[in-house]
Amino acid sequence: MIPQETIQLIIETARIEEVVGEFVSLKRRGVNLLGNCPFHNEKTPSFTVSPAKGIYKCFGCGAAGNSVKFLMEHEQYNYPEALRYLAKKYQIEVDEEEQTPEQQKATTERESLYHVSEFAKDYFATTLWEDPKGKAIGLSYLRERGLSDQLIKKFELGYSPNEWTAFSDYAQTNSYPLSSLEKTGLTILKENNKVFDRFKGRVMFPIHNLSGRVIGFGGRILSNEKNAAKYLNSPESEIYNKSKVLYGIYFARQAILKLDNCLLVEGYTDVISLHQSGIENVVASSGTSLTTDQIKLIKRFTSNITILYDGDPAGIKASFRGIDMILEQGMNVKIVLFPEGEDPDSFSRKHSAGEVSTFIEKEADDFIRFKTKLLQEEAANDPVKRGELIKEIVQSVSIIPDEIMRSVYVKECSLLMDIPEQALINDLNKRLKKNDKDFRSIPSPIAPSATKEQTQVDQIKQQIRKTPLDFQEENLIRMLLTFGTKSFEYRFRENESEDESVIDVNVAQFIVEQLEDDSLGFLNPIYQKIYNAYKDGVQTEKLPTHLTFIHHSDDAIVQVAVDLLSSPYSLSENWLNKERIHVITEEELLLQAANNSVLSFKQRKLEQEIHELQLNLKDAPEDESEKIILLILKKQNIQKLISERLGRIVLK
Ligand code: CTP
Ligand code: MN
Repeated sequence: MIPQETIQLIIETARIEEVVGEFVSLKRRGVNLLGNCPFHNEKTPSFTVSPAKGIYKCFGCGAAGNSVKFLMEHEQYNYPEALRYLAKKYQIEVDEEEQTPEQQKATTERESLYHVSEFAKDYFATTLWEDPKGKAIGLSYLRERGLSDQLIKKFELGYSPNEWTAFSDYAQTNSYPLSSLEKTGLTILKENNKVFDRFKGRVMFPIHNLSGRVIGFGGRILSNEKNAAKYLNSPESEIYNKSKVLYGIYFARQAILKLDNCLLVEGYTDVISLHQSGIENVVASSGTSLTTDQIKLIKRFTSNITILYDGDPAGIKASFRGIDMILEQGMNVKIVLFPEGEDPDSFSRKHSAGEVSTFIEKEADDFIRFKTKLLQEEAANDPVKRGELIKEIVQSVSIIPDEIMRSVYVKECSLLMDIPEQALINDLNKRLKKNDKDFRSIPSPIAPSATKEQTQVDQIKQQIRKTPLDFQEENLIRMLLTFGTKSFEYRFRENESEDESVIDVNVAQFIVEQLEDDSLGFLNPIYQKIYNAYKDGVQTEKLPTHLTFIHHSDDAIVQVAVDLLSSPYSLSENWLNKERIHVITEEELLLQAANNSVLSFKQRKLEQEIHELQLNLKDAPEDESEKIILLILKKQNIQKLISERLGRIVLK
């Protein structure tokens, strides 16, 4: 339990822009900061952080909250975890009362897996630095690999003793339950209930999540046993999801933000060796093939990825898929090919820090040059192979979501391969169409183009098909049809100083005036026609009645009118049971019903407009997105006002 005063202090000290800034690249925009939303996929930033208000808000997906909420959503922390994270960040001491056994039991399973992992990391590190065998075997191995003590400490590397149960025993004597040990995979439980250490005799690489907590391990074998895998990794657990994690991301994220580029390597040692060369914006997929989730993780920090490959041709061709996946995310990808037989780790050990950075900078090719360079040799004198290469490149280009980027790459390919641009464009367009064939074009809510084969009933059904506002629109039309000609007393003041006026208003007048004030129309064309009839009626003071519509020449109108009148608005049902509202007369009821119908309609309409704006925002260029955000804000304000009025008695 964290004492209330401490919670208060933590919340007051935390600065939203600093908390969010650790996970999201933010740029200043006036009084606020702006970035790509970490909670949904977007091309143009609509994630706003307001230091003054201490909140974040995404205008694309609606995510919003304060520092604590951000950590809970983003890092999946529970409330106390988020507070502890902030306390640590701002060096606020937390005097937590000892947990009772019940509380301990109650800490979630996730939490216990984190604890076990943390405990194991400390145990392996202690063994590496203090145990004689740990030092002689583990530490000396790492030092021989050229890693500085400082770096070994930074990455919290360790050693797992070459004994069957050393770790599992130690953990259990420290009261860590076997169940948690097994769930993290640190301990393997055999059928006969025998226990042993998964990572026996290995050098340990803890895997950290974004906020630096240990969630799993990689362990490298030191002996040359033929049958044992060189690296062993923790199995998936509730806290360790391989496809969503990148090794080194915790140590890299600041540098990635600063340099606006992320280097992607294969292995644990590549990451650490590059750090040793002063290159810190580097993460590893750690043996698994790259996943979309991993790419999205990088995308939170930058849209530029540079893949560093060791010069093994088989691996390179397998990497093409990864390149396409990055392009698909609308990110830029460059590729650096290391000399045959070298990986970033071995290369860094042979070259000075300066040479490594220069090499990466110089060798980085965009994917077109990379593929061309790779395949050109085979393709040079073989027109068929050449054709295949070009198709291969165009295929990758067709995946890029951004049209401008696509045309840039087409131009480059045309120059590089000496092919007329138009030929590439034709091929590209064919592919774009093909890529798109799974998407059905979204039909407009009103389908006016009925074919001759369609029966009349079908046509009517088409026309009165549900629109997003159907419920609210229907409500208003039903009010008009059922009570349009009924009137009630409406009291109002033109302004504060004047006396109250009382006029007789009928429902149709009331609704028409309210909608015309905001020039609102209906999405459903049939409803619009019925409404228009009432509007005309209000103006000419000759209101239609429901009979006008059930005997209308337009079959669709007849159908709608019949439907609505056959389940008429029941005032008492809908409005009487609203507590707090003391209803006296039918007139009051009528006013309330009419008013609520109008307000709900307006509310829903705003919602719809905001939704549309949010969709526009996704594809809007930067200079326009600000305008859109302002508009969204404005509409949200109106929504709030309406919400406040909804359900309140309007009669004074
Ligand atoms: N890997 C793995 N299991 C293996 C082999 C490799 O999980 N049996 C993963 C590890 O994350 C490793 C990466 O793939 O870091 C790259 O493999 P490799 O190039 O073989 O290892 P290196 O990183 O070069 O390791 P070392 O230099 O220690 O041999
Ligand atoms: Mn290696």
